[in-house]
Amino acid sequence: MSSAPAKTFSGWVAHNATSPLTYTTFEPKPFTETDIEIRVTHCGICGTDVHTLRSGWAPTDYPCVVGHEIIGIVERVGTGVPTLASSPASREIKIGDRVGVGAQSMSCLRVDCEACADGEESYCNRLTGTYNSRYADKSKSYGGFADRWRGPAHFVFKIPDTLPSAEAAPLLCAGVTVYAPLRKHGVGPGKTVGIVGIGGLGHLGILFAKALGADRVIAISRSSRKRDEAIWGLGADEFIATGEEKGWAKPHSRSLDIILSTVSGGDMPFAQYLRLLKRNGTFIQVGAPEEPLPPLAAYSLIQKAVQVTGSNIGSPEDIRNMLELAAEKRVLPWIQKRPMKDVNSALVDMHEGKARYRYVLQNSEQQAKL
Ligand SMILES: NC(=O)c1ccc[n+]([C@@H]2O[C@H](COP(=O)([O-])OP(=O)(O)OC[C@H]3O[C@@H](n4cnc5c(N)ncnc54)[C@H](OP(=O)(O)O)[C@@H]3O)[C@@H](O)[C@H]2O)c1
Ligand SMILES: [Zn+2]
Ligand SMILES: [Zn+2]
Repeated sequence: MSSAPAKTFSGWVAHNATSPLTYTTFEPKPFTETDIEIRVTHCGICGTDVHTLRSGWAPTDYPCVVGHEIIGIVERVGTGVPTLASSPASREIKIGDRVGVGAQSMSCLRVDCEACADGEESYCNRLTGTYNSRYADKSKSYGGFADRWRGPAHFVFKIPDTLPSAEAAPLLCAGVTVYAPLRKHGVGPGKTVGIVGIGGLGHLGILFAKALGADRVIAISRSSRKRDEAIWGLGADEFIATGEEKGWAKPHSRSLDIILSTVSGGDMPFAQYLRLLKRNGTFIQVGAPEEPLPPLAAYSLIQKAVQVTGSNIGSPEDIRNMLELAAEKRVLPWIQKRPMKDVNSALVDMHEGKARYRYVLQNSEQQAKL
């Protein structure tokens, strides 16, 4: 593309917390020499999109375009990208490449920032989210429910050839959000892992725990509706339906090394989950309910020296490692494709918990060329 960068893009814009999204124009960040611009082909719907659209955590900065599981084709590469100091991997990205963008679009990348210097960009306190956030020049960030996306090359990733685009999309947020903490906390042979909440993140939690070589993976869900799919399809070794099995914690107590909780609502049996951990076990919360977590008796922590922690998406290096593992071990999310133009009905279905297990919006060729 040799023409001047566009001043406006088209996409599905939220104007407030309650109205449906409308297809209209918005103003992306100004194109800089370290940016990349892509034509969006696919974008997953993440639970975070739902929280943000309804201003669930805090007032959202409308107009807002959500979507941070983006796959697209590179159409413009800034002149500084081939020599980008911050990211050797990004230097390879060329026009026509198939790439992905996740939930983070920028961090400060300063040497005096401990998080960035340690390669933990997702913990930088000047992090720019892919939407509902601001870049250093104060311009707004806009996500992937759109025809195009534009942003810093440091946070753009080449997609391995063997991963289909629609399946690759959810890996960019849901995939790395479960992969990074499982990896960090040593999930592999010899470990027994519990995954709580079998949704977009949770079903990938089962797949990645298995791909990392965990001995046993226990799926923990509110009802038995997902039991057969979790065991026969996703490969879980056991399934607990916490809302249906009376006294469920007792027979499983002290059996898990690690629990990864993707639960998106605050109403959860937190203390019961902790009963499942072994001595020195670790509970990792990645789900981000709008309400506080339930209160916890100190004894829940004291009696077995359990650790309770959290995790925020993953670093660019985590994303590259995760994509490599997904390609090598064929970790493919279960997806349902929806045309991007049907985004509003897909969001309603997502909100009602109907996704099995991730909706991926697909831009039609015609719309993608607009
Ligand atoms: N930490 C991060 O970096 C990060 C990244 C991405 C997303 N998130 C957050 O992770 C959460 C999950 O996202 P997602 O895309 O996986 O959403 P999702 O597909 O809707 O899955 C969430 C799952 O949580 C369970 N759940 C929902 N409401 C619940 C409640 N009130 N009590 C107990 N369990 C409940 C359900 O599982 P069952 O039906 O099996 O019970 C549901 O399938 C969201 O809060 C999202 O914002 C965090
Ligand atoms: Zn997400
Ligand atoms: Zn930083």
